[in-house]
Amino acid sequence: MNITVIGGGSWGLGLSKVLSDNGHQVLVYDIDKKLVDKINTLHISPQLDEFIPEDIQATNDMALAMKHADVALFVVPTKVLRIAIESALPYIESPKTFINAAKGIEPKTFKRISEIFYEMIPQKYFKAFVTLSGPSHAEEVIKGLTTAVTSASEDEEAAKFVQSLFHNQQYFRVYSSTDLKGVELGGSLKNIFALAAGIIRGQGLGDNALAAFMTRALVEMEKIYNYRGANSETLYGLSGIGDLIVTCTSQHSRNFQAGYKIGSGKDLDETLDSMTMVVEGIRTTEAAYYLSKTAKLDTPIIDAIYDVIFNRNDPKKALMNLLAREQKAENC
Ligand SMILES: NC(=O)c1ccc[n+]([C@@H]2O[C@H](COP(=O)([O-])OP(=O)(O)OC[C@H]3O[C@@H](n4cnc5c(N)ncnc54)[C@H](O)[C@@H]3O)[C@@H](O)[C@H]2O)c1
Repeated sequence: MNITVIGGGSWGLGLSKVLSDNGHQVLVYDIDKKLVDKINTLHISPQLDEFIPEDIQATNDMALAMKHADVALFVVPTKVLRIAIESALPYIESPKTFINAAKGIEPKTFKRISEIFYEMIPQKYFKAFVTLSGPSHAEEVIKGLTTAVTSASEDEEAAKFVQSLFHNQQYFRVYSSTDLKGVELGGSLKNIFALAAGIIRGQGLGDNALAAFMTRALVEMEKIYNYRGANSETLYGLSGIGDLIVTCTSQHSRNFQAGYKIGSGKDLDETLDSMTMVVEGIRTTEAAYYLSKTAKLDTPIIDAIYDVIFNRNDPKKALMNLLAREQKAENC
């Protein structure tokens, strides 16, 4: 298959390696000219400082990128997703399978990424829309370390088609799902709790606190799944609890790293400025907070993280406020 990957950052090149290893012709498009040159001449991922297969080519030319694409895989941070789709639109001339591997919900509109694709790209250009999500740090995938993810689409055949593109028997196992909503929500919401996990660790709290937060995070995620009509069983799959575990417990997670710095008392703006890679959890916290308020959901962890990030509340006070809430039954 001829596959174009839009976004040659950590995850874009991690997935490009999988596709290239599986025998596909991969062309990477990125707006960063220096990055494109490094991919073509040095065959490396500069962000991860790792070699990538030499047959992966890169370009700054979107016309060429779209001409190449039987399948277009988008892997750009969600805050630039609309810009990336906009720049591709004039060059989409035939129906394609669109895949997204970024994780986030749009603040204010509360739109999932599939909803943004369907809003921006005319129906006649869709073969299908599929999302790929799950516990997958690019740092490990690029080294060929064992990973399992989920390919999800409302169109079961499309989910299975994308599963077959990425699946291999060496290191990358892919499951399929038709619960697109649940898979998109899981991959997005977990980033909020990764920030929370980092804050907890940054404050010097231990495994008990982390386990409690992750468990209560699942309760809050389930409320949002139910409100948005996702299947709550998906929460117990790779894109839900799987991604929650990896992101709340791993140093590779930049959401965790950002939370850790904030929890350790570092200035919030300095922390965010110092992060060279995207911290999706910030935007998703804003989206989930307003979604939760609109729907009148009880989501105290999301509220506390919002308070720390957007109202500059002291993380220690936010934690004390959480502990000071009235006693309640566990299953509500
Ligand atoms: N890094 C991971 O391990 C990982 C794993 C799973 C999911 N994700 C998700 O994937 C998304 C991307 O993350 P990343 O780690 O690859 O980010 P990154 O910052 O490493 O790379 C983003 C790339 O997008 C490019 N870009 C920016 N604007 C663009 C545009 N308009 N058109 C084309 N390219 C553009 C940048 O130049 C950069 O190379 C995020 O939503 C992230 O949550 C990341």
